[in-house]
Amino acid sequence: MLVRNHRIGLNFGDLMFLRGEYLVTPKLPDVAGMEAAGEIAAIGDGVIDVQVGDRVAYIGMGSYADYTLIRANRVLSLPDSISDETGASFPVAALTAWHMLHTVHHVSAGESVLVHSAAGGVGLAAVQIAHTAGARVIGVVSSPAKAAAALAGGADHVIDSSNAAFAPAVLELTDGRGADLILDGVGRPTFADGLTCLARFGHLILFGRAGGSPAPVDPLQLLSNSRTLSGFVLPHIYRDAPVMKRSLDAIFGLVEGGQLRLPIAGCLPLEEAATALTALASRQTIGKFLLSTG
Ligand SMILES: NC(=O)c1ccc[n+]([C@@H]2O[C@H](COP(=O)([O-])OP(=O)(O)OC[C@H]3O[C@@H](n4cnc5c(N)ncnc54)[C@H](OP(=O)(O)O)[C@@H]3O)[C@@H](O)[C@H]2O)c1
Repeated sequence: MLVRNHRIGLNFGDLMFLRGEYLVTPKLPDVAGMEAAGEIAAIGDGVIDVQVGDRVAYIGMGSYADYTLIRANRVLSLPDSISDETGASFPVAALTAWHMLHTVHHVSAGESVLVHSAAGGVGLAAVQIAHTAGARVIGVVSSPAKAAAALAGGADHVIDSSNAAFAPAVLELTDGRGADLILDGVGRPTFADGLTCLARFGHLILFGRAGGSPAPVDPLQLLSNSRTLSGFVLPHIYRDAPVMKRSLDAIFGLVEGGQLRLPIAGCLPLEEAATALTALASRQTIGKFLLSTG
């Protein structure tokens, strides 16, 4: 399908793509970006169930553009209740958060869930989805403004990493027990300390490295407290249509029920993508930064 992009969502992965450090390496000249919302401008042979003019969002490379050619199985139809802004901001962040909490882990009420970068795109989605599942959510952030955003999203506690080490704070908040689940998209600065504040049978999911790659881990370390370490990347999910449908139905339900809302950190014209990316790289954004076309 050819999609006319209206709003384009920024992701930390865009910075990694531009640096040549992402799962997909640029083949110059190339176009960055991995999600957007807009309308179908043209349909190729064999594409069924949608029409030109339908409102859609998608996950797929090349979204920093007015038009993007995208495989039909990457496109999600948008209900009227979902705006272009929401459509461009939720796919990567909410699906990543939802699948870590409900597919890789099976979060249950009362579990303690530690979310790093809890005011970021994935982080704020994870705070809200975990809160809705009845978990006790501890967010780690780097400023008072981010702390306020995580609390507004439903975090029960926030730790400001600019003035406190998170691992001792987690142990204190859980009466020495530790977190049942840690969602870590930061990597080097957080990974090793995360292993020290996991509960018995605790689970750490590494899904990114905004702060650099963590040092290798000795697997024997996992025996202590019977800990589990997992990795997650979204592309392994979105090629599986039934699993995608299950998660999208759940996410649309949360959005429509007012339980999931990603704040828009800012919206700039596509031509000013570099300014928006600089804000993301310098840790200034809360929620999702968007680009607009036309
Ligand atoms: N596995 C997957 O499929 C998948 C999908 C989407 C995203 N991700 C990963 O998830 C993480 C979050 O992505 P996002 O798009 O939602 O970004 P984001 O959280 O909105 O922004 C990145 C955040 O990372 C934190 N951070 C810590 N150290 C940093 C550093 N040295 N430089 C910059 N930021 C740093 C900052 O939060 P604080 O200031 O609060 O520390 C910053 O706001 C990234 O690692 C991304 O690659 C993975």
